[in-house]
Amino acid sequence: MLAYYRSKLFSLLIIFLALSNSGALNAQESIQFTLDQANAGETLYKLNCQACHGNRLSNGQFGTPLIGRAFRNIWKGKSLGELLQHTWEKMPPDDLMSLTREEVTNLVAFILSRNDMKPGEVPMVSDPEQAADTYLPWE
Ligand code: HEC
Repeated sequence: MLAYYRSKLFSLLIIFLALSNSGALNAQESIQFTLDQANAGETLYKLNCQACHGNRLSNGQFGTPLIGRAFRNIWKGKSLGELLQHTWEKMPPDDLMSLTREEVTNLVAFILSRNDMKPGEVPMVSDPEQAADTYLPWE
């Protein structure tokens, strides 16, 4: 009897460890940014991006939508690192690499906030390599 309970307890412990471990992984891999970053990004967006991508991020005459299904279909399953790097290397196309990594990070935080992601306590990292294992959702 005692052995039975012991083995039951042991399997419960294993399940608990598996669950808490996957929880920790999810927390680490989910997209994080702060409200301050998104707000700073909004200011930068108006100055550097809005002319092409539009004030609603989907009504630009010279840039593709940065919200909605078309945008999410392109980026779903790709890494946050790729999005940071792409934006840093390619945007704005009329003044390439004029923004710092930190500014691009704030811009990406702003764009993701407009794609229904919620800000939190943990800031988004600026180094694309550090965000290489963080994936955009929208599967
Ligand atoms: C001169 C017009 C122009 C400006 C200014 C501009 N963009 Fe773009 N942007 C484009 C065009 C055109 C594309 C589509 C081609 C491409 O992905 O390179 C694009 C694509 C993008 C993409 C990829 C979207 C996708 O569908 O994959 C992101 C992200 C982006 N821009 C962000 C920005 C940010 C942030 C700024 C401001 C720093 C900015 N853009 C400024 C024209 C512009």
